[in-house]
Amino acid sequence: MPDLDGKGFGTRAVHGAGGPDPATGAVVPPISLATTFRQEAVGKHLGYEYARSGNPTRAALEAHLATLEGAAHGFAFASGLAAEDTLVRGLLSPGDHVVLPGDAYGGTFRLFDQVEKRWGVEHSPAELSDADAVAAAIRPGQTKLVWVETPTNPLLGIADIEALANLAHDAGALLVVDNTFASPYLQRPLTLGADVVVHSTTKYAGGHSDVVGGALVVRDLELAEKLAYHQNAMGAVAGPFDSWLVLRGLKTLAIRMDRHCDNAETVVEFLGSHPAVTQVYYPGLPEHPGHDVAARQMKRFGGMVSFRVAGGEPQALGVCERAEVFTLGESLGGVESLIEHPGRMTHASVAGTPLEVPGDLVRLSVGIETVEDLITDLDRALGG
Ligand SMILES: Cc1ncc(COP(=O)(O)O)c(C=O)c1O
Repeated sequence: MPDLDGKGFGTRAVHGAGGPDPATGAVVPPISLATTFRQEAVGKHLGYEYARSGNPTRAALEAHLATLEGAAHGFAFASGLAAEDTLVRGLLSPGDHVVLPGDAYGGTFRLFDQVEKRWGVEHSPAELSDADAVAAAIRPGQTKLVWVETPTNPLLGIADIEALANLAHDAGALLVVDNTFASPYLQRPLTLGADVVVHSTTKYAGGHSDVVGGALVVRDLELAEKLAYHQNAMGAVAGPFDSWLVLRGLKTLAIRMDRHCDNAETVVEFLGSHPAVTQVYYPGLPEHPGHDVAARQMKRFGGMVSFRVAGGEPQALGVCERAEVFTLGESLGGVESLIEHPGRMTHASVAGTPLEVPGDLVRLSVGIETVEDLITDLDRALGG
């Protein structure tokens, strides 16, 4: 394997998975299916004993994710939510409190609201773009995590990672950043002061809508030891084939993200001048309230775009149903463009809560297709 020190992101993305297999020279890591590993003598082995505790394909993915996030320790899980649950129950105890984003991903909110709360972990939402609101939501001595999504899902809000890290640390809390929307190509929260990065690798990391996975990445050794213990003790690990698929996806992350960003910028320009569109949410727009912060902490502004339509919820649903190149479906971050109605789909679980999203909102995950085809499709779906 080439020395990756000082190499660019694209080089590390391609070569960071450990290099050719030392046994055969195969240029991609093998999918290691063994559940148990021979011990030469009791406790004497090559680093693997039992595949929940450690698996070579998963280990390659974990090392790769850590490299791309600029950290030392990565952990791969069966899903993003499994990673989140391991983080919360691994680090927190009953009575502890978490500050959540005011428009957190619905599944994350549901995890805290319907599951972790029953185990005594409390939470409250705060508008993360407003440092005073976050400071007011922190309960000194009780708040153990400040949870950040930036950009947020689905309203593409931006939080200042460095400022929130300082705020969290002053209160003795850790800053967790869900980096799913940006991916490590566009944003590396640990280098801005965050303590933990969370990923749904189902999205841009995997990149092909064919694997569900999650990850945690940390710099701190003590934190890493706690997470390693709970990853094994709780057992929600990524399987070998799933790990391999995410590894494969990561190799093309840089070029995929650049194309997602190129296409999203063209789509945003089109939507901005369409008479049926009342508002476009994209941090790349100079008028977006978080634009300056996003420009500082992100390389580019990503492939996710949301917009509202003049005809209210019926028109939003109609646009979703009329689109053809954009597939109507949940999830995001794959090579194919997706369209969805957050209020009825991804964010249905927050209906009736403070996190409810507007009914006239449509969310796009802009894929890597020929951009003219995406524009024609949206134009037709919006009614010409
Ligand atoms: C921002 C964000 N975080 C976490 C998750 C949860 O990940 P998973 O679906 O892999 O459990 C999602 C899923 O959509 C997400 O969009």
